[in-house]
Amino acid sequence: MTDKTYDNIKITRDGAITFVTLNRPEKRNAMSPGLHYDMQDALTRLDDDAQTRVLVLAGAGEAWCAGQDLKLYFRETAGDPVERKKSNNASHNWRHHILSTFSKPTIAMVQGYCFGGAFTQLCSCDFAVADEAATFGLSEVNWGILPGGIVSWNLTDQLMPRHALYYATTGEPFSGKRAEEIGLVNFAVPKDQLMAKTMELANRLLNLNPSVVRFTKEAVRSVRHMRADEARDYLGVKQDGLAKADKEIADKVGMKEFLDAKSYRPGLGPYQRPKA
Ligand code: ACO
Repeated sequence: MTDKTYDNIKITRDGAITFVTLNRPEKRNAMSPGLHYDMQDALTRLDDDAQTRVLVLAGAGEAWCAGQDLKLYFRETAGDPVERKKSNNASHNWRHHILSTFSKPTIAMVQGYCFGGAFTQLCSCDFAVADEAATFGLSEVNWGILPGGIVSWNLTDQLMPRHALYYATTGEPFSGKRAEEIGLVNFAVPKDQLMAKTMELANRLLNLNPSVVRFTKEAVRSVRHMRADEARDYLGVKQDGLAKADKEIADKVGMKEFLDAKSYRPGLGPYQRPKA
């Protein structure tokens, strides 16, 4: 199937790994209303795309994403409440709702700049790999707004409160290496290793049972805001759902291989699934 083409983003594939790249390099991939509409459409399609088993969110050129487009997203919609609302809804929908409930694992591959509103899609991705020299920043404070949309929520959801408060309140830029230290990204590597590290993680995810990966990421995300007794109940039902969704799990293949065939040690590495 040929992928749809878009004005503001591009879609490329490496087997089961699909790259969605913000593609306004001349504007450092700042997010215009058009980019939000493109992303909303593309991610909605890819969530149901059978070929896509891991999604990588990338940025073209010198930046991953310089945040909302101050001209096209803010200034030019200021006198048009309908367009403002429409683009605001699309912006929230793809960056938070669609990405954080995406049915396949998602990886943010960050190089160059990541500012302001870009923190929402960064935090919505399941994993993040960054160039250690990338520049992250909550620049809003520098020009009189607070980290809005849901960026302040993203910060307190992902970071320790002291880090969230410090970087939001001072606007101090920080490196990819620092982002790794404070848990905002999983790995920070030299720029020339960014793609290789991202592919290593993507391929590791591809080797796992996709139903287990999906149910596990949904479970970990959901229990975070539950009480312990609610989480216990929810996880029991979720496990039943997983067994229904996947025959390998229903048949307890991994347990049989450990207890009966003694052919596999689950503690030492991922189960090698038979090739389809
Ligand atoms: N909105 C609109 N245009 C932008 C944005 C943005 N967020 N970021 C960059 N651009 C545009 C610039 O206006 C410039 O356009 P022009 O060529 O028509 O003049 C072009 O992208 C290149 O930008 P430069 O500043 O020339 O590039 P440089 O590499 O020197 O700097 C940097 C890049 C550091 C990202 C700088 O552009 C910057 O500080 N941008 C603003 C980042 C920011 O504060 N983002 C948060 C926005 S608020 C929010 O997201 C809620």
